[in-house]
Amino acid sequence: MAMLYMSGWENGEHWKGLMRQHLPDVEFRIYPEIGDPADIEMALIWHVALDQLKTFPNLKLISSLGAGVDHLVGERHHLPDGVPLTRLVDPSMTSQMTAWCVMAVLNHHRRWDDYREFHRERRYEEIDVAPPADVTVGVLGLGELGGSVARALLPMGYQVTGWSRSPKDIDGVQCFHGAAELTAFLAGCDIVVCLLPLTDETRGILNAETLSRMKPGAFIVNGARGAHIVEPDLIAAIDSGRIAGATVDVQVQEPMAPDHPFWFHPRILTFPHVAALTIAETCAPQIADNYRRMKDGRPLLNLVDMDRGY
Ligand code: NAP
Ligand code: GLV
Repeated sequence: MAMLYMSGWENGEHWKGLMRQHLPDVEFRIYPEIGDPADIEMALIWHVALDQLKTFPNLKLISSLGAGVDHLVGERHHLPDGVPLTRLVDPSMTSQMTAWCVMAVLNHHRRWDDYREFHRERRYEEIDVAPPADVTVGVLGLGELGGSVARALLPMGYQVTGWSRSPKDIDGVQCFHGAAELTAFLAGCDIVVCLLPLTDETRGILNAETLSRMKPGAFIVNGARGAHIVEPDLIAAIDSGRIAGATVDVQVQEPMAPDHPFWFHPRILTFPHVAALTIAETCAPQIADNYRRMKDGRPLLNLVDMDRGY
Protein backbone atom coordinates (compact mmCIF):
# COMPACT_ATOMS: atom_id res chain seq x y z
CA MET A 1 0.00 0.00 0.00
CA ALA A 2 1.24 3.51 -0.79
CA MET A 3 0.91 7.24 -0.18
CA LEU A 4 0.89 9.47 -3.26
CA TYR A 5 2.31 13.00 -3.20
CA MET A 6 0.47 15.22 -5.70
CA SER A 7 1.55 18.78 -5.00
CA GLY A 8 3.07 20.24 -8.14
CA TRP A 9 5.88 21.52 -5.91
CA GLU A 10 9.43 20.40 -6.54
CA ASN A 11 10.13 19.04 -3.09
CA GLY A 12 8.70 15.53 -3.45
CA GLU A 13 11.99 13.79 -2.68
CA HIS A 14 12.35 15.86 0.48
CA TRP A 15 8.88 14.80 1.64
CA LYS A 16 9.69 11.23 0.73
CA GLY A 17 12.74 11.24 3.01
CA LEU A 18 10.76 12.69 5.88
CA MET A 19 7.76 10.40 5.50
CA ARG A 20 10.10 7.40 5.41
CA GLN A 21 11.26 8.38 8.92
CA HIS A 22 7.68 8.54 10.19
CA LEU A 23 6.18 5.65 8.23
CA PRO A 24 9.07 3.38 7.22
CA ASP A 25 6.74 0.65 5.99
CA VAL A 26 4.65 2.83 3.69
CA GLU A 27 5.75 3.33 0.11
CA PHE A 28 5.82 7.03 -0.86
CA ARG A 29 5.21 7.78 -4.52
CA ILE A 30 5.50 11.12 -6.26
CA TYR A 31 3.01 12.05 -8.96
CA PRO A 32 3.05 11.31 -11.90
CA GLU A 33 4.84 8.05 -10.85
CA ILE A 34 1.61 6.47 -9.59
CA GLY A 35 2.50 2.82 -10.15
CA ASP A 36 -0.48 0.54 -9.67
CA PRO A 37 -3.45 2.85 -8.86
CA ALA A 38 -4.86 0.12 -6.61
CA ASP A 39 -1.93 0.60 -4.20
CA ILE A 40 -2.79 4.21 -3.35
CA GLU A 41 -4.46 4.50 0.06
CA MET A 42 -3.69 8.11 0.92
CA ALA A 43 -3.14 11.15 -1.33
CA LEU A 44 -1.37 14.35 -0.28
CA ILE A 45 -2.66 17.01 -2.58
CA TRP A 46 -2.55 20.64 -3.46
CA HIS A 47 -3.59 21.62 -6.96
CA VAL A 48 -2.40 18.81 -9.17
CA ALA A 49 -4.40 16.24 -11.14
CA LEU A 50 -7.46 16.22 -8.92
CA ASP A 51 -9.32 14.42 -11.68
CA GLN A 52 -7.08 11.37 -11.04
CA LEU A 53 -8.33 10.81 -7.51
CA LYS A 54 -11.35 8.77 -8.55
CA THR A 55 -9.07 6.34 -10.40
CA PHE A 56 -7.57 5.04 -7.13
CA PRO A 57 -9.99 2.28 -6.08
CA ASN A 58 -8.51 1.86 -2.58
CA LEU A 59 -8.12 5.53 -1.68
CA LYS A 60 -9.16 6.02 1.96
CA LEU A 61 -7.86 9.47 2.88
CA ILE A 62 -7.05 12.74 1.13
CA SER A 63 -4.90 15.28 2.94
CA SER A 64 -4.58 18.87 1.80
CA LEU A 65 -0.98 20.05 1.87
CA GLY A 66 -2.21 23.41 3.14
CA ALA A 67 -4.54 24.86 5.74
CA GLY A 68 -7.02 26.05 3.13
CA VAL A 69 -9.18 23.64 1.16
CA ASP A 70 -11.31 25.99 -0.95
CA HIS A 71 -9.71 24.71 -4.17
CA LEU A 72 -10.62 21.15 -3.19
CA VAL A 73 -14.11 21.86 -1.91
CA GLY A 74 -14.70 23.85 -5.10
CA GLU A 75 -13.65 20.79 -7.14
CA ARG A 76 -15.44 18.29 -4.97
CA HIS A 77 -16.90 16.56 -8.00
CA HIS A 78 -13.35 15.20 -8.48
CA LEU A 79 -13.16 13.82 -4.95
CA PRO A 80 -14.35 10.25 -4.53
CA ASP A 81 -17.54 9.93 -2.49
CA GLY A 82 -17.03 8.95 1.11
CA VAL A 83 -13.26 9.56 1.18
CA PRO A 84 -12.51 12.03 4.00
CA LEU A 85 -10.51 15.21 3.39
CA THR A 86 -8.20 16.57 6.08
CA ARG A 87 -6.24 19.82 6.18
CA LEU A 88 -3.09 21.00 7.94
CA VAL A 89 -3.17 22.76 11.27
CA ASP A 90 0.44 23.41 12.08
CA PRO A 91 2.07 25.55 14.79
CA SER A 92 4.72 26.70 12.35
CA MET A 93 2.10 27.85 9.87
CA THR A 94 0.23 29.61 12.66
CA SER A 95 3.31 31.44 13.88
CA GLN A 96 4.31 32.43 10.34
CA MET A 97 0.85 33.84 9.67
CA THR A 98 0.73 35.57 13.03
CA ALA A 99 4.06 37.26 12.39
CA TRP A 100 3.06 38.29 8.86
CA CYS A 101 -0.25 39.85 9.98
CA VAL A 102 1.27 41.59 12.99
CA MET A 103 3.99 42.94 10.72
CA ALA A 104 1.39 44.28 8.28
CA VAL A 105 -0.57 45.92 11.11
CA LEU A 106 2.52 47.48 12.67
CA ASN A 107 3.96 48.66 9.37
CA HIS A 108 0.74 50.47 8.63
CA HIS A 109 0.05 51.87 12.09
CA ARG A 110 3.66 52.88 12.84
CA ARG A 111 4.07 54.41 9.37
CA TRP A 112 7.11 52.31 8.43
CA ASP A 113 6.90 53.24 4.73
CA ASP A 114 6.70 56.95 5.47
CA TYR A 115 9.70 56.78 7.78
CA ARG A 116 11.63 54.88 5.10
CA GLU A 117 10.87 57.77 2.76
CA PHE A 118 11.93 60.28 5.44
CA HIS A 119 15.14 58.34 5.89
CA ARG A 120 15.89 58.58 2.18
CA GLU A 121 15.22 62.32 2.32
CA ARG A 122 17.25 62.76 5.59
CA ARG A 123 14.15 64.21 7.26
CA TYR A 124 14.38 63.81 11.05
CA GLU A 125 10.69 64.31 11.66
CA GLU A 126 8.01 62.76 13.80
CA ILE A 127 4.64 61.59 12.45
CA ASP A 128 1.70 61.72 14.81
CA VAL A 129 0.11 58.29 15.26
CA ALA A 130 -2.75 57.26 17.50
CA PRO A 131 -1.70 55.20 20.54
CA PRO A 132 -2.47 51.48 20.04
CA ALA A 133 -5.17 51.68 22.72
CA ASP A 134 -7.07 53.96 20.34
CA VAL A 135 -6.68 51.64 17.35
CA THR A 136 -9.09 48.76 16.82
CA VAL A 137 -7.85 45.80 14.82
CA GLY A 138 -10.67 43.50 13.75
CA VAL A 139 -9.89 39.96 12.71
CA LEU A 140 -12.28 38.28 10.28
CA GLY A 141 -12.11 34.58 11.20
CA LEU A 142 -11.16 33.49 14.71
CA GLY A 143 -9.93 29.99 13.90
CA GLU A 144 -6.43 28.56 14.15
CA LEU A 145 -4.83 31.51 12.39
CA GLY A 146 -7.18 34.39 13.16
CA GLY A 147 -7.40 33.44 16.84
CA SER A 148 -3.62 33.47 17.10
CA VAL A 149 -3.34 36.86 15.38
CA ALA A 150 -5.99 38.34 17.67
CA ARG A 151 -4.15 37.09 20.76
CA ALA A 152 -0.78 38.30 19.48
CA LEU A 153 -2.04 41.86 19.02
CA LEU A 154 -3.30 42.19 22.59
CA PRO A 155 0.04 42.65 24.37
CA MET A 156 0.91 45.35 21.85
CA GLY A 157 -1.90 47.39 23.31
CA TYR A 158 -4.39 47.32 20.44
CA GLN A 159 -8.12 47.04 20.89
CA VAL A 160 -8.82 43.69 19.28
CA THR A 161 -12.13 42.47 17.93
CA GLY A 162 -13.01 39.41 15.90
CA TRP A 163 -15.77 37.88 13.84
CA SER A 164 -16.57 34.22 13.36
CA ARG A 165 -19.47 31.98 12.38
CA SER A 166 -20.10 30.58 15.85
CA PRO A 167 -19.77 32.53 19.14
CA LYS A 168 -16.28 32.76 20.63
CA ASP A 169 -14.93 33.72 24.02
CA ILE A 170 -11.33 34.93 23.82
CA ASP A 171 -9.90 36.84 26.78
CA GLY A 172 -9.43 40.49 25.85
CA VAL A 173 -11.00 40.17 22.40
CA GLN A 174 -14.46 41.55 21.67
CA CYS A 175 -16.05 38.75 19.69
CA PHE A 176 -18.82 39.13 17.12
CA HIS A 177 -20.39 36.29 15.20
CA GLY A 178 -22.74 35.55 12.36
CA ALA A 179 -23.95 37.60 9.42
CA ALA A 180 -26.18 39.71 11.68
CA GLU A 181 -23.16 41.08 13.61
CA LEU A 182 -20.86 41.74 10.65
CA THR A 183 -21.86 45.39 10.24
CA ALA A 184 -21.39 46.14 13.95
CA PHE A 185 -18.00 44.43 13.84
CA LEU A 186 -16.86 46.39 10.77
CA ALA A 187 -18.08 49.72 12.14
CA GLY A 188 -15.48 49.59 14.93
CA CYS A 189 -12.47 48.63 12.79
CA ASP A 190 -9.47 50.85 12.03
CA ILE A 191 -7.65 47.85 10.58
CA VAL A 192 -9.28 44.67 9.28
CA VAL A 193 -7.28 41.46 9.03
CA CYS A 194 -8.94 38.76 6.91
CA LEU A 195 -8.26 35.15 7.92
CA LEU A 196 -11.47 33.50 6.82
CA PRO A 197 -11.66 30.35 4.75
CA LEU A 198 -12.93 30.98 1.23
CA THR A 199 -16.46 29.57 1.01
CA ASP A 200 -19.69 30.48 -0.76
CA GLU A 201 -20.50 32.65 2.26
CA THR A 202 -17.20 34.51 2.47
CA ARG A 203 -16.33 35.00 -1.21
CA GLY A 204 -16.23 38.73 -1.95
CA ILE A 205 -16.87 39.62 1.69
CA LEU A 206 -14.66 42.70 1.37
CA ASN A 207 -16.62 44.65 -1.22
CA ALA A 208 -17.87 48.21 -1.83
CA GLU A 209 -20.63 47.81 0.76
CA THR A 210 -18.56 46.26 3.57
CA LEU A 211 -15.58 48.54 2.94
CA SER A 212 -17.93 51.50 3.33
CA ARG A 213 -18.99 50.17 6.76
CA MET A 214 -15.51 50.42 8.27
CA LYS A 215 -14.15 53.55 9.91
CA PRO A 216 -13.05 56.15 7.35
CA GLY A 217 -9.36 55.58 6.62
CA ALA A 218 -9.46 51.91 7.63
CA PHE A 219 -6.69 49.64 6.41
CA ILE A 220 -7.04 46.10 5.02
CA VAL A 221 -4.74 43.14 5.58
CA ASN A 222 -5.56 39.95 3.68
CA GLY A 223 -3.69 36.76 4.54
CA ALA A 224 -6.51 34.41 3.51
CA ARG A 225 -7.57 34.13 -0.13
CA GLY A 226 -7.60 36.71 -2.90
CA ALA A 227 -11.28 36.18 -3.69
CA HIS A 228 -12.31 37.44 -0.26
CA ILE A 229 -11.73 40.87 -1.75
CA VAL A 230 -13.60 42.29 -4.72
CA GLU A 231 -10.40 43.78 -6.09
CA PRO A 232 -11.91 46.63 -8.19
CA ASP A 233 -14.01 47.66 -5.16
CA LEU A 234 -10.91 47.84 -2.99
CA ILE A 235 -9.08 49.98 -5.53
CA ALA A 236 -12.09 52.30 -5.84
CA ALA A 237 -12.39 52.59 -2.04
CA ILE A 238 -8.70 53.47 -1.72
CA ASP A 239 -8.81 55.91 -4.61
CA SER A 240 -11.78 57.68 -3.07
CA GLY A 241 -9.86 58.02 0.22
CA ARG A 242 -12.44 55.91 2.11
CA ILE A 243 -9.89 53.14 2.73
CA ALA A 244 -6.27 54.04 3.49
CA GLY A 245 -4.63 51.10 1.75
CA ALA A 246 -4.05 47.37 1.87
CA THR A 247 -1.43 44.70 2.33
CA VAL A 248 -2.41 41.48 0.58
CA ASP A 249 -0.59 38.18 0.55
CA VAL A 250 -3.15 36.67 -1.82
CA GLN A 251 -4.89 37.77 -4.99
CA VAL A 252 -7.79 36.52 -7.11
CA GLN A 253 -5.41 35.35 -9.82
CA GLU A 254 -2.04 33.97 -8.72
CA PRO A 255 0.51 34.73 -9.91
CA MET A 256 -0.78 38.25 -10.56
CA ALA A 257 -0.78 39.21 -14.21
CA PRO A 258 1.92 41.76 -15.13
CA ASP A 259 -0.74 44.39 -15.77
CA HIS A 260 -2.71 43.77 -12.54
CA PRO A 261 -3.59 47.20 -11.10
CA PHE A 262 -2.34 46.19 -7.63
CA TRP A 263 1.25 46.30 -8.98
CA PHE A 264 0.90 49.98 -9.78
CA HIS A 265 -1.08 51.17 -6.78
CA PRO A 266 0.91 53.28 -4.31
CA ARG A 267 -1.30 52.26 -1.36
CA ILE A 268 -1.35 48.53 -2.00
CA LEU A 269 1.48 46.20 -1.06
CA THR A 270 1.34 42.68 -2.49
CA PHE A 271 3.12 39.51 -1.47
CA PRO A 272 3.26 36.32 -3.58
CA HIS A 273 1.28 34.06 -1.21
CA VAL A 274 4.07 33.56 1.29
CA ALA A 275 2.48 34.54 4.61
CA ALA A 276 2.42 30.96 5.94
CA LEU A 277 4.18 28.25 4.03
CA THR A 278 3.80 24.50 4.49
CA ILE A 279 6.96 23.32 6.22
CA ALA A 280 7.44 19.62 5.52
CA GLU A 281 9.37 18.96 8.74
CA THR A 282 6.58 20.19 11.00
CA CYS A 283 3.68 18.84 8.93
CA ALA A 284 4.96 15.32 8.22
CA PRO A 285 4.24 14.00 11.76
CA GLN A 286 0.53 14.93 11.62
CA ILE A 287 0.20 13.40 8.17
CA ALA A 288 1.77 10.20 9.46
CA ASP A 289 -0.51 10.33 12.49
CA ASN A 290 -3.58 10.64 10.26
CA TYR A 291 -2.35 7.74 8.11
CA ARG A 292 -2.16 5.54 11.22
CA ARG A 293 -5.56 6.78 12.40
CA MET A 294 -7.03 5.93 9.01
CA LYS A 295 -5.50 2.43 9.17
CA ASP A 296 -6.76 1.86 12.73
CA GLY A 297 -10.19 3.37 12.13
CA ARG A 298 -9.59 6.06 14.78
CA PRO A 299 -10.96 9.65 14.41
CA LEU A 300 -8.96 11.78 11.98
CA LEU A 301 -7.30 15.07 12.89
CA ASN A 302 -8.38 18.30 11.18
CA LEU A 303 -11.20 16.79 9.21
CA VAL A 304 -12.84 19.14 6.68
CA ASP A 305 -16.61 19.56 6.77
CA MET A 306 -17.37 19.51 3.05
CA ASP A 307 -20.82 21.03 3.46
CA ARG A 308 -19.54 23.92 5.58
CA GLY A 309 -16.65 24.32 3.11
CA TYR A 310 -13.78 24.45 5.62
P1 NAP B 1 -10.06 27.79 10.53
O1 NAP B 1 -9.32 27.33 11.74
O2 NAP B 1 -11.02 26.86 9.90
O3 NAP B 1 -10.80 29.14 10.97
C1 NAP B 1 -11.72 29.75 10.13
C2 NAP B 1 -12.45 30.84 10.91
O4 NAP B 1 -13.32 31.52 10.01
C3 NAP B 1 -13.32 30.27 12.03
O5 NAP B 1 -13.29 31.11 13.15
C4 NAP B 1 -14.71 30.28 11.40
O6 NAP B 1 -15.77 30.40 12.33
C5 NAP B 1 -14.64 31.53 10.56
N1 NAP B 1 -15.65 31.50 9.50
C6 NAP B 1 -15.81 30.61 8.51
N2 NAP B 1 -16.89 30.90 7.76
C7 NAP B 1 -17.43 32.00 8.32
C8 NAP B 1 -18.59 32.77 8.04
N3 NAP B 1 -19.40 32.48 7.04
N4 NAP B 1 -18.85 33.82 8.84
C9 NAP B 1 -18.06 34.13 9.90
N5 NAP B 1 -16.94 33.44 10.21
C10 NAP B 1 -16.64 32.38 9.44
O7 NAP B 1 -9.05 28.25 9.40
P2 NAP B 1 -7.52 28.72 9.58
O8 NAP B 1 -6.65 27.54 9.78
O9 NAP B 1 -7.49 29.79 10.58
O10 NAP B 1 -7.22 29.28 8.11
C11 NAP B 1 -7.97 30.34 7.55
C12 NAP B 1 -7.61 30.51 6.09
O11 NAP B 1 -6.32 31.09 5.96
C13 NAP B 1 -7.49 29.22 5.29
O12 NAP B 1 -8.75 28.75 4.91
C14 NAP B 1 -6.67 29.66 4.10
O13 NAP B 1 -7.51 30.12 3.07
C15 NAP B 1 -5.86 30.83 4.63
N6 NAP B 1 -4.42 30.55 4.67
C16 NAP B 1 -3.58 31.36 3.95
C17 NAP B 1 -2.22 31.11 3.98
C18 NAP B 1 -1.27 32.01 3.25
O14 NAP B 1 -0.08 31.69 3.18
N7 NAP B 1 -1.71 33.14 2.75
C19 NAP B 1 -1.72 30.04 4.74
C20 NAP B 1 -2.60 29.26 5.44
C21 NAP B 1 -3.96 29.52 5.40
P3 NAP B 1 -16.08 29.22 13.38
O15 NAP B 1 -14.91 29.28 14.35
O16 NAP B 1 -17.34 29.63 14.00
O17 NAP B 1 -16.12 27.96 12.60
C1 GLV C 1 -1.96 28.28 2.06
O1 GLV C 1 -2.45 29.18 1.48
C2 GLV C 1 -2.68 27.33 2.82
O2 GLV C 1 -3.92 27.31 2.73
O3 GLV C 1 -2.04 26.55 3.54
